[in-house]
Amino acid sequence: MKLVSLVASTRPGSVNCALYSKVAHKLESCGHTLEEMPYAQVENLPQYTPVREETSGLPPFIGTLSRSILQADGLVIASPEYNFSIPGPLKNAIDWVSRIKPYVMTGKPVLLMSASGSPVGGWRGLAALRIPLGCLGARVFPWEITAGAVASVEAVEALSKTEAFRDRIDLAISQFG
Ligand SMILES: Cc1cc2nc3c(=O)[nH]c(=O)nc-3n(C[C@H](O)[C@H](O)[C@H](O)COP(=O)(O)O)c2cc1C
Repeated sequence: MKLVSLVASTRPGSVNCALYSKVAHKLESCGHTLEEMPYAQVENLPQYTPVREETSGLPPFIGTLSRSILQADGLVIASPEYNFSIPGPLKNAIDWVSRIKPYVMTGKPVLLMSASGSPVGGWRGLAALRIPLGCLGARVFPWEITAGAVASVEAVEALSKTEAFRDRIDLAISQFG
């Protein structure tokens, strides 16, 4: 499949970037292609308001992102959990994209993942993310990938070497689509 991805962190040493690289590598070795959208551009989007939309229209990057989603077979999103929910810039991008009709995400399968220092991982953030994506018609894949108790890139690296984690990723990827 041709996949578009978003990794919702530009932090140096991001654990979500580290997790995404592991999963992306596996997806590519299974024959999928990935186009990663620059999250710095998501962070730089203006805050969505109806007045801003009416006066300035959609930001150019939203056109780029929406076209890529439309042309892709599916999406991959790696996101930290912020206060048990969706990081603000990511939710803001979803709000902008939702202004394009028909919805560009309709019918697209979405693979979610999250890494966190918390022992339970970022599953609550992913649960929150499922709501707007689902309401925009995306088919959010039930087998999400969560990495808990990983507060550093080294911890993600160590986790990725365990059999249980490799099995989890293999299962998710083999079922995705
Ligand atoms: C504003 C804020 C809220 C956070 N809320 C949560 C949370 O609800 N659950 C959690 O597991 N971690 C939370 N964290 C910790 C993040 O998981 C941690 O900073 C993580 O490293 C962010 O991902 P990144 O390394 O990919 O940038 C929060 C961090 C920030 C800055």
